[in-house]
Amino acid sequence: MSTTEQIGSIPHGGKLIQRQVAKEERDAYLQKIANVKTVTVNTWHLSDLELIANGGFSPLTGFMGKTNYTRVVEEMRLEDGTIWSIPITLDVEKAQAEALEIGEQIALIGEDDEVYGVLYLTEKYHYDKEKEAKLVYGTTDPSHPGVKKVYEKGDIYLAGPIHLLQKKANNQFANYQLDPRETRKLFAALGWKTIVGFQTRNPVHRAHEYIQKCALESVDGLLLNPLVGETKSDDISADIRMKSYEVILDKYYPKDRTRLVIYPAAMRYAGPREAILHAIVRKNYGCTHFIVGRDHAGVGDYYGTYEAQELISQYEAELGIQIFAFEHAFYCTACENMGTEKTCPHDKSYHVHLSGTKVREKLRNGEELPKEFSRPEVAKVLREGFRQR
Ligand code: ADX
Repeated sequence: MSTTEQIGSIPHGGKLIQRQVAKEERDAYLQKIANVKTVTVNTWHLSDLELIANGGFSPLTGFMGKTNYTRVVEEMRLEDGTIWSIPITLDVEKAQAEALEIGEQIALIGEDDEVYGVLYLTEKYHYDKEKEAKLVYGTTDPSHPGVKKVYEKGDIYLAGPIHLLQKKANNQFANYQLDPRETRKLFAALGWKTIVGFQTRNPVHRAHEYIQKCALESVDGLLLNPLVGETKSDDISADIRMKSYEVILDKYYPKDRTRLVIYPAAMRYAGPREAILHAIVRKNYGCTHFIVGRDHAGVGDYYGTYEAQELISQYEAELGIQIFAFEHAFYCTACENMGTEKTCPHDKSYHVHLSGTKVREKLRNGEELPKEFSRPEVAKVLREGFRQR
């Protein structure tokens, strides 16, 4: 194991995967595959490709074959028994799959015609969408945004190891684009031995800040690791969120104990199962701890408030990353402080809480967000972002 891998937690499966072709070898590689068949991939596939290649999805080395896929869907485990909760797959339409042969190298092309990677095709297989929806998302309801995506996919999955030739440009976030190897080095340079990872697809409101800081009281550093891949259309866009993170970090967080790094994945909204994936990935980025609050990666009323915590707690020892579980946090006007049911004796009428829908409604109408709910600097960025749209 290299020194980089010894920093922070041990990578999932024991080894940090690296499937990125070095810059200086890229041209030669492109020439080699100049005449191979191509498959056009979408931004969701590109996010997965990047995370396989940079080690975020270690121990995966490619898109899942049928045995891995089936075991993950049915038992939340890879073929070798390693815990894994969400299938990582590459779908195509049947006609396209028929034109490809096992053993071929396939160039993965983005919708912008750029070559992003290569797939060494080992398998193509049919899968059961309803079964995937039911077991992974806990529902077959097509209104669930993750299930909707499953139903929209092509009918065949292509499988095999990959190489990444270039990442999807995330130019606007270039300063925050680090691979797991790089975050591990960064943590070592900062002298952090214990690091808590925080997943988010929202701006950091007071409740998020409260649970992050409670966690930060017991560890050396906080990795604020917002998801910037595809999200549902009514979530606040990544560029607005990133601005909001910059302003809140600048004013309210200790600079030497906090780092902002993007998580390039797409959001599945798979609640409990996605919480496990999120923890695994943060472990690969070098975190020793991971926060799971209320309704982690949830959407609507599909999952119970603490279902993600309940599921992940069953696997915590095996996952090899410590979970900080937090109850629903709020500002209490009687305590004049943030808290949860564990720490606040007052009833709900004293608690300030806004749902995501309510926040968006207020922003759309140009209304102020209460300062007990959101820092004024964050609220300002969000209001301006909404106005510009
Ligand atoms: S998520 O889909 O990425 O989970 P969000 O960005 O809202 O959504 O949440 C990020 C993390 O903060 C998750 O672990 C979530 O459970 C937690 N969280 C969000 N709001 C609260 C809250 N009011 N109290 C406790 N935990 C919360």
